[in-house]
Amino acid sequence: MTDRLGRTQRFYTRWARLYDLLAVHTPGIGSLRAAAIDRLAIQAGDTVVEMGCGTGANLPLLCQQVDPDGQVIGIDVSTGVLSVASDRVARNGWANVHVVRGDATEPPVEKGSADAVFASLVAGMVDDPAGMVDEWADLVGPGGRLGLLDLARSSDRRARPLNGLFRRFVTTANPRSVRESTAPLATLDRRVAAAHRQLGERCSDADSATRALGFARLSAGTVD
Ligand SMILES: C[S@@+](CC[C@H](N)C(=O)[O-])C[C@H]1O[C@@H](n2cnc3c(N)ncnc32)[C@H](O)[C@@H]1O
Repeated sequence: MTDRLGRTQRFYTRWARLYDLLAVHTPGIGSLRAAAIDRLAIQAGDTVVEMGCGTGANLPLLCQQVDPDGQVIGIDVSTGVLSVASDRVARNGWANVHVVRGDATEPPVEKGSADAVFASLVAGMVDDPAGMVDEWADLVGPGGRLGLLDLARSSDRRARPLNGLFRRFVTTANPRSVRESTAPLATLDRRVAAAHRQLGERCSDADSATRALGFARLSAGTVD
């Protein structure tokens, strides 16, 4: 495991319960998750892999959409968040949802075994987000679906007064490797843009939109 991944795993293991509260109860986050998952156009019976699933805040929606005949596989590197996600799965009695430890940049999933890959708030955490999206496109193969939800700085004029608040959110809600980088927001913006751009490269029907005054980026498409 690289130093960066080790720091990520320690951070999200230590703060898993607090992160879960933010992931589920931050005002507006539920409707962003629903809008992003809606764009993924999951069919009943699909197998969906959620990369960097964290505490499982997306699992209720994903589970509902695949129906009992499909399945959801959540992958995350941090044991603490996976333990919260496992509790959520057990509490809800979801027999078709499995959470496993793994690196989203080298997912432990056989190529061609998933219909769709979804990831929210993960692209900004890796050094090569475009390479990661490429890996996911290869995993689902032609006809497979990709969906991303990310937060980055907004260029919307109406959002300017909130950019300071967003900076504080990014610098407190991220591992030290992100907080201490010389320009954490610029790094986040660059990574998020690269991931969404790469989705566009791999899916000719890619559909992208912004929400939440431009702070949220949603993209989805079918791999060519
Ligand atoms: C900001 S949280 C988002 C969690 C969840 N997707 C959500 O929307 O609430 C980022 C998650 O990505 C995970 N993560 C970061 N880099 C990863 C990697 N290379 N492989 C697997 N998980 C990773 C972290 O452990 C953390 O749980």
